[in-house]
Amino acid sequence: MNEPVRVGVVGMGTVGSGVVRLLVESADHIERHAGRRIVVEKAVVKDPSKARDVQVPGGRISGDFRDISRDPSISVAALLVGGLEPARTIMVDLLEHGKDVVTANKALLAEHGPELFELARRKGRSIAFEAAVAGGIPIVAAIGECLAANRIESIRGILNGTSNFILTRMEEDGADYADVLALAQQKGFAEADPSMDVDGTDATQKLAILAHLAFGVWVPWAEIPRMGIEGIDLDLLTYAAELGYRIRLIAVASRSEGRLAMRVAPALVKIGTPLAETRGAYNAVSIVGDAVGRMFFHGLGAGQMPTASAVVADIIDTVVGRAAITFRTTGVLDADSPAAKIGGVDAPDRHFLRIRVKDRPGVLARITGILGDHGISIASVIQHDASSASDAVVPLVIMTHACGSSAIQRAVATIDASDVVSGRSVCLSVLDD
Ligand code: HSE
Repeated sequence: MNEPVRVGVVGMGTVGSGVVRLLVESADHIERHAGRRIVVEKAVVKDPSKARDVQVPGGRISGDFRDISRDPSISVAALLVGGLEPARTIMVDLLEHGKDVVTANKALLAEHGPELFELARRKGRSIAFEAAVAGGIPIVAAIGECLAANRIESIRGILNGTSNFILTRMEEDGADYADVLALAQQKGFAEADPSMDVDGTDATQKLAILAHLAFGVWVPWAEIPRMGIEGIDLDLLTYAAELGYRIRLIAVASRSEGRLAMRVAPALVKIGTPLAETRGAYNAVSIVGDAVGRMFFHGLGAGQMPTASAVVADIIDTVVGRAAITFRTTGVLDADSPAAKIGGVDAPDRHFLRIRVKDRPGVLARITGILGDHGISIASVIQHDASSASDAVVPLVIMTHACGSSAIQRAVATIDASDVVSGRSVCLSVLDD
């Protein structure tokens, strides 16, 4: 009979509590997969005196992470605290003291991945991070292992459950943005600082990690163009639906002429396509590989148990030795990965514009004239009869034919600088497949 493996859990928030619950309640099942018993030896929390729903076996709770890193009986640590510090200090200390680490902290990996992977290699340890991207969807294993024979051509996905939950509730129930965000926090989807969910930061950090795996290049996440969902109102969702689309926060990375086109932004997705049908806290990732073709992954991307599912699978992989082999043998996580050449790709997309215009003669001609001057052709226009007041401002919605993003950005800047509009226009790209 193999000796049990002792695991330390750092952080007993939403995810950490789920991990302890799963390790305790599914211990027999997990033992069958791991080939040995996995025991929660100790948990480290900020406030050991706080009452908790989930109990650590034997009540072994400490307020000092060194009680895990210095405990020779513990070989694997699950680092389940968010943010950069003290998470980075704790990760370094765990690796320095010979622990294999499993983490869900994408901000830490997106910011300090190369140096942490390098340290782990020097120490002969592994870092497993399936839970850092897309919650319960095994997308890290899919890209890093299962699709390893492929040159990945593109990744397109919904990588933030909170934003998707907000957009879906607004679109389906006409719910108020702030109320739904509060509900997402209650349900444990949102980050401690939910502005990182809604401003696109969280999805951008996840995209940087996936791009590292898929394209073998290191992408500083802050260099990826990013727009969140804060500016998406009910009117936009209604106009999109009238045109046959939904709005989703979409992360894109695609290879083109030696460069990577990457961005995170709300986009229109055609009703009936898989991304448009991804609802609530679900995430979805569509990947095109040169051998396998297009693949689609769908599952809960946020929340306690879906994320715990990925963490515990990584703990099992670590115990079995698979994580160490992957970590040691795969070159895709090398600290010296070349920096990505991002941007500089002006792939044509259709665009959706919402312009608030002054309702007076000649305005439509001015707007269409500016678009025409920039070589942009219009596919459809919606302007509903709103008010007869002479100074009324009405929304004008335009769907363009495919045009380069730099042309549309220049055109929108010119439109917004003109005297026929009120406030800033919204310009979103349109994904038809
Ligand atoms: N806050 C994240 C989301 C979950 O809403 O997707 C953890 O990655």
